[in-house]
Amino acid sequence: MKILLIGNSARAHIIAETLKKSAADPDIFAFMSAKNPGIIKIAADYEIGKLDDTDAIVNFAKSIEPDFAFISPELPISAGVADKLIEIGIPSIGPIKELGMLECSKSYVRELMQEYSIPGAPKFRIFSSLEGIDEFLDSLSGTGYVLKPDGLTGGKGVKVSGEHISSKQEAIDYCREVIEAHGKIVIEEKLVGEEFSLQSFVDGKTVVDTPPVQDHKRAYNGDTGPNTGGMGSYSGTANLPFLSKKDLEDAHNITVAVNEAMFKKSGKYYKGIMYGGFIATKDGIKLIEYNARFGDPEAMNVLSILKTDLVTICKAIIDSTLSKTTIEFEKKATVCKYIVPEGYPDNPKSGDTVNVPEPTGTQKLYFASINETDDNLVMGTSRALAFVGVADTIDEAEKIAEHACKQVKGSVRHRSDIGTEALIQKRIDHMKQIRG
Ligand code: AMP
Ligand code: GLY
Repeated sequence: MKILLIGNSARAHIIAETLKKSAADPDIFAFMSAKNPGIIKIAADYEIGKLDDTDAIVNFAKSIEPDFAFISPELPISAGVADKLIEIGIPSIGPIKELGMLECSKSYVRELMQEYSIPGAPKFRIFSSLEGIDEFLDSLSGTGYVLKPDGLTGGKGVKVSGEHISSKQEAIDYCREVIEAHGKIVIEEKLVGEEFSLQSFVDGKTVVDTPPVQDHKRAYNGDTGPNTGGMGSYSGTANLPFLSKKDLEDAHNITVAVNEAMFKKSGKYYKGIMYGGFIATKDGIKLIEYNARFGDPEAMNVLSILKTDLVTICKAIIDSTLSKTTIEFEKKATVCKYIVPEGYPDNPKSGDTVNVPEPTGTQKLYFASINETDDNLVMGTSRALAFVGVADTIDEAEKIAEHACKQVKGSVRHRSDIGTEALIQKRIDHMKQIRG
C-alpha cells in the first residue's frame, strides 16, 4: 500500500506515524513545503514544493500511484488538490474544493445553517459593501460583535469587539479593508463561553467523533497575549471536564446536520475530517466555525489514543462505510504542549538551534517548524516542537508533557499552564458562572 501525505506540520507528523503503524504497513510519500525531520524518518520518499501547487502535487502523485492521499492542512484543500487527485483516480481524505468551503469561506457555513435551519449559529449578516453595517453593529451593541473576513487568513483575520476592536469607527474601517481584500465580511454576535474542538471522521453519510479537545490560542500563561496557531491542548478520558454529555451530543448533531446539508446542496459526499470549533454558552452549544482538517495541536490529542487502524478508517471514508466501522480510542487523557521560538508569534527569533533530548517513557515528540541540519535542529519562525503526554488523568498527562518541554534547551518558551489543575478549574468555574 502507498499513501500520499500532503503537509509538514506536527499534525502531518502524527498522521504519518499513525498511518505507518497500520497493519497494512503502507509506504508513506510526503509532499511538504519544508523538510520535517520526523516525517522524513517515516517516509519512503518525499518531495518539497508549495502546498497549493496542484500541478506539482499531481505530478508527484502520478509518479507514485498511491492508493489514496491524506491532506493535512487547509491550503491544498482550498487550492482544489483533492479534485485534481480524484480526476486521476486517487481518492482523498480531505474534501473537494466545493466542500472545503466549509473552512475556506466563513459565509458558506453560516448560509448553509440558515438555509437548512440548523441550530447553533449566532446572529449574523454577510456584507459585500459598507451599506447597513453601521446599523447592524448598533443592533449587536448589547453582546458585542465579531468581524470575519470571508476567506482563509491563517487564523489572523478575525477581530473581536472589546479585544481587538475598541470603537465603531475602528470596526467600520476594518470592514472596509476586508471588503476590499476579500469581497465579503461576516459580522456576527459575540458569544461568551468555553470553546472546544470536536473533530469527526466523515464519509459523506456518517459522522464519527473523536474525543473533544480544548486548544489554547493565546501566547502566554493565563490566556494572555496575542493569538497564535495554538500553544497546546488537552483532552479528558471521556469528555472535557466543563462539558456535559448533552453538550457533546448537541455539537455532534450540528456536525451531522451540516454534513447532510452539504450533501443536499452539492450532491457530493464530504470525505475527510470535519473539525467544529464550538463554544458552550449559557444558551447551549453554538458553532464558531468549521475546519476541513484535523486541528493542530488537536490532532496530537486524538491520534495519540486512536486504537483503530487509521488506514482502515481512511478506507471506510473512501468507500462510505464508516457506519459499519467500529472506531475506538484508549480511555486516556492527553496533553499537548508546543515549544515555540522566543518572540513567537509577533517577533519570532528564527534560526536558533535547540537541544532536544530523546523522548523517554510515555512522552511523545512531533516536529513542526524545525529543520534538521547535519548535527542540529534549527527553528523556523513558527511553532517548533509538540510534546504529548498520555496518561490516566489530565494531571498526569500534563506532568509528562511539561517535563519534556523543560528539557529543551534554546531560545524557546512554552505555556506551562496548559492542562494544569488550576487552569482546568478556571474553565469549570467559568462554565458554572455562565450557566448559573
Ligand atoms: P476563527 O479564525 O474563526 O477560528 O476565529 C478565531 C477566534 O475568534 C475563535 O477561536 C474565537 O475565539 C473567536 N471567535 C470567532 N467567532 C466568534 C464569536 N461569534 N463569538 C466569540 N468569539 C468568536
Ligand atoms: N487549533 C487551531 C487550528 O488547527 O486551526
